[in-house]
Amino acid sequence: MELTNNTVLITGGTSGFGYEFAARLIELGNTVIITGRNVQKLQETKQKLPVVHTIQSDVSKPGEISHLYNRVISEFPQLNILINNAGEMRKLSLHHNHDLTDLTREIEINLMGPIRMVQEFLPHLRIQKNAVILNVTSGIALMPLPIAPIYSASKSGLRWYTQALRVQLKNTRIKVIELVAPGSSTPLNEKFRNEEGFDSNRLMAPEKIVEQAIKGMKSDKDEIYPGLAKVIQIVSRIAPKFIMAQAGKMGASFMYANQ
Ligand SMILES: NC(=O)c1ccc[n+]([C@@H]2O[C@H](COP(=O)([O-])OP(=O)(O)OC[C@H]3O[C@@H](n4cnc5c(N)ncnc54)[C@H](OP(=O)(O)O)[C@@H]3O)[C@@H](O)[C@H]2O)c1
Repeated sequence: MELTNNTVLITGGTSGFGYEFAARLIELGNTVIITGRNVQKLQETKQKLPVVHTIQSDVSKPGEISHLYNRVISEFPQLNILINNAGEMRKLSLHHNHDLTDLTREIEINLMGPIRMVQEFLPHLRIQKNAVILNVTSGIALMPLPIAPIYSASKSGLRWYTQALRVQLKNTRIKVIELVAPGSSTPLNEKFRNEEGFDSNRLMAPEKIVEQAIKGMKSDKDEIYPGLAKVIQIVSRIAPKFIMAQAGKMGASFMYANQ
């Protein structure tokens, strides 16, 4: 698709991939609206990207999605690209007690968030001349990362949902794209830096991932696998036990403690 003169809504646009998507899509001549929960981060982003439009909205709250929809559709009726990017990743030991609501937070944000966003915006996107829904999954959708079990579940769930969505929308003008992102040097990974087995040299810069995503969008790809995500895709098929053994090494003492 032509990546100019579009109106793009990006959930979670104040850092990492969301910020890079916003900066790059503005450079290409698109109107960009970003969301996030933290007002200060939204204001700081507006200072760095003065033409970006910011709306505070928590994607894990259905009421805030409806409010976001009403506001975006009235202020930006040309909206034709939705990028479901907002996400959170926590390390979590299943040996500990957890509040049952907080336990599934990543499912609410990373999986139910995009599902509800798509449902709310679908009638609007369906009547655009051409539209895109891009969901950001992860290499962790192809193989679980045991130190982050709920995150792993959220991303594999989002991958299957995205594939089902693509089939259901095949007779519409909405293109459904999955960005299967590899590990990247964004704030999301900061809390993992001191874990054993965490190799910061393997992280790909968010700018490079977004550059590949933009290339993939321009050439109408269904799925985009930057850097190591391509390797994970191949190895998880031909040597699933090997890749699981590697994934289980990260944060081993955190996970296996108290058994
Ligand atoms: N970094 C990686 O290694 C990696 C790899 C594969 C996939 N991904 C995925 O890529 C996406 C972006 O991650 P990132 O690495 O760029 O993370 P990041 O730098 O931490 O950015 C996350 C963004 O999402 C927003 N956000 C978080 N929870 C939200 C909520 N409930 N409602 C609305 N906005 C919310 C954050 O702002 P507020 O906190 O202010 O809300 C922030 O703008 C996520 O879906 C992540 O799972 C990341």
